[in-house]
Amino acid sequence: MKLAIRNYFSFVTDGLRWNLQFTFSSWVVLMVLILVAAAGAQPNIASIRFDTQTQVFRIDAADMSYVLGINERKEVQTLYWGRRISAKDTFVAARPDPGLSSFDSSINTTRQDFAAWGGGLYVEPDLKVTFPDGNRDLVLQYMSHTIAGDRLTILLKDVSRDVYVQLEYQADASTGILKRSAQVQNRTSAPLVVEQIASGTWNLPRGNDYRLRYLTGRWAGEWNLHEQLIQPGKTILESRRGSTGDQNNPWFAIDQNGSNDEERGDVWFGALGWSGSWQISIEQDEAQQVRVTGGPNSFDFGYRLAPGEHLESPDFYGGYSPDGIGGASRLLHRFELSSIVPHAPNAKLRPVLYNSWEATEFKVDEAGQEALAEKAASIGVERFVVDDGWFGQRASDRAGLGDWYVNPVKFPHGLKPLIDRVHSLGMDFGLWVEPEMVNPDSDLYRKHPEWVLHFTGRPRSEGRNQLMLNLARPDVRAYVFQALDKLLDENDIAFLKWDYNRNWSEPGWPAVAPEDQKKVYVDYIRNLYSIIAELRTKHPGVEIESCSGGGSRVDLGIMRYTDEVWPSDNTDAFDRLLIQDGFTYAYAPGVMMAWVTDSPTWVNQRSLSLEYRFLSSMQGSLGIGANLNNWKSDDFATAQKLVAQYKQIRQIVQRGSLYRLISPQKGSEYSVTESVSDDRDNAVVFAFLHSSQMLYPFPRIFLRGLKPETMYRMKVLDGKLSPDTPAVATGSFWMQHGLDVELRGDFQAAAFTLEKTRP
Ligand code: DGJ
Repeated sequence: MKLAIRNYFSFVTDGLRWNLQFTFSSWVVLMVLILVAAAGAQPNIASIRFDTQTQVFRIDAADMSYVLGINERKEVQTLYWGRRISAKDTFVAARPDPGLSSFDSSINTTRQDFAAWGGGLYVEPDLKVTFPDGNRDLVLQYMSHTIAGDRLTILLKDVSRDVYVQLEYQADASTGILKRSAQVQNRTSAPLVVEQIASGTWNLPRGNDYRLRYLTGRWAGEWNLHEQLIQPGKTILESRRGSTGDQNNPWFAIDQNGSNDEERGDVWFGALGWSGSWQISIEQDEAQQVRVTGGPNSFDFGYRLAPGEHLESPDFYGGYSPDGIGGASRLLHRFELSSIVPHAPNAKLRPVLYNSWEATEFKVDEAGQEALAEKAASIGVERFVVDDGWFGQRASDRAGLGDWYVNPVKFPHGLKPLIDRVHSLGMDFGLWVEPEMVNPDSDLYRKHPEWVLHFTGRPRSEGRNQLMLNLARPDVRAYVFQALDKLLDENDIAFLKWDYNRNWSEPGWPAVAPEDQKKVYVDYIRNLYSIIAELRTKHPGVEIESCSGGGSRVDLGIMRYTDEVWPSDNTDAFDRLLIQDGFTYAYAPGVMMAWVTDSPTWVNQRSLSLEYRFLSSMQGSLGIGANLNNWKSDDFATAQKLVAQYKQIRQIVQRGSLYRLISPQKGSEYSVTESVSDDRDNAVVFAFLHSSQMLYPFPRIFLRGLKPETMYRMKVLDGKLSPDTPAVATGSFWMQHGLDVELRGDFQAAAFTLEKTRP
């Protein structure tokens, strides 16, 4: 709760008058600053200051400064975004760019933080509206602002109409990541239609040698990293699928070509917190300036705002790292775990889980699952998850979705006997659901055919024999919530795997007025979030995984409500090296589920040793998805050992800093990752070889992130190190001299740990 103690404070420093609007929390922050300064330490808080003379706002947090000013046209203009600037430096007032010619006018070459479409703007707008009288011109001007702790709010208004836009900036003290959003308010007396709304535009320093990194994919082939030079014109990363999708992921990173590598150089990066159709436009304008604008996809968009109503954009997060793309990833990982996921910053570590899907598919029943549970418990599994097939008339993917009652033939006494058995084996219990979907062959669809997304009188396209429930409808929202609430009330369930296995089609909502039907793009997602939020409030112990037939719904929006995500249905441990590497550019290994499954894998018919499969999965949050009924006693012994080892290192893997020492990208034969604990006293390293050739040894591994003068003891978890490797050496030795692993053959792996030696 914020105390309503508010006053204004101004002081002169370095010849500048700073006017601060002080809330109670600001006073607390000031006291902390004074104490920290007295102790001679670097303050770990965000500061936001406004200079009334120059009308310049300055946001400083961690190693980042973001500076914006109000120019003479009252536009909000970006002045700087990048590495933290000394407090001694001041910024002159924002001055609109003069423009290049009558074609390239000032409004288009001035770097606006948030520009509406109007007044001759043709670069990507943040906002576009249509009024009922046909006017589509909107020109926003600064009205006022407030500063409260780490949050800046700027209010804009159209030059003549009562359309207001509230911009929010919130700075994260420990990473310097800024959260931005915009809220458009219709204070006129007539409705208007918002045809495009972005959260804001990130403007990079002028330059024509920028490189864009982004992630692409498809089912079973998610998380491919791409790089391209940013050219004049526009690149659009997007999803028109109704959900996040995997063809592009809403994440970007930009650096200056040639001056960067994994660990060095300036990187500007961002990610959108939205699980519906979205777009991020990366534009190099005619003045060679790069602008990144992101929000819900404007394709087929239209949100009618009645008088008095408002529309809020999603959050768009942006950050800066001086430490290359590796540093950018680590900042994002830290931010996700400390600010985004439920219970952040104190989220629990991911338990080792078993999942039935690849073992039994739809053929789940009480006896079969109990047998698997007993075997899973014997190797140290902590959570047993029954996947698809337990409900309704679900014998295949042709029927049952929507009918969330326990199948009475497969589980004649309900789920209780199985859950009790799982508990008695020392594990908690999880269950698969796909709440947003319905099979035409289901009681629910027979009763409510009008509940799905559709256009009246038009065909309804199916995907995996299923249709999409229209979650934007209040009755559908209520049904889905009640079904899940009942399931959780009646059964002792610790975990839901929330699946979603198709894209939208025919996104009609005939139950509302035609001019409101496109609201479905926003209202569906808002209801999805609110259902999960309400379930979590009512059942605070329950954890949830976001799965979308693989990694199709991973973004900072859904991550606010879910404890972990499923990156891909492709569980081939070799393919996973590339998939997991791509995933970690944007998302933390601490939320990335990785199962050990059977060999040969269904994906590539490739045979991989159990050790290799374990080490691949141990780089994330470990799960087991193999058919344990086919395992031999040796397999159980190996698994027991590796699960126990994983529990020893999982704090480092799930919460530590990730260094991609050798990336499997670009056809590399090798892959090496290192995770370093927060206190830098411990590290764990995983190394993988595809195939050795012509007697070449594995490249030397140079560790990172250790304390140079600290002595670390090396311990092999699996595989072999060169006999020349010392048992104990300094951080500087491991980082500068490096070490050799002895990997030869095909699909070989090794893992080792470093631990600070205790005197
Ligand atoms: C897709 C998921 O990604 C799989 O793990 C599994 O849960 C199936 N759906 C079940 O239908």
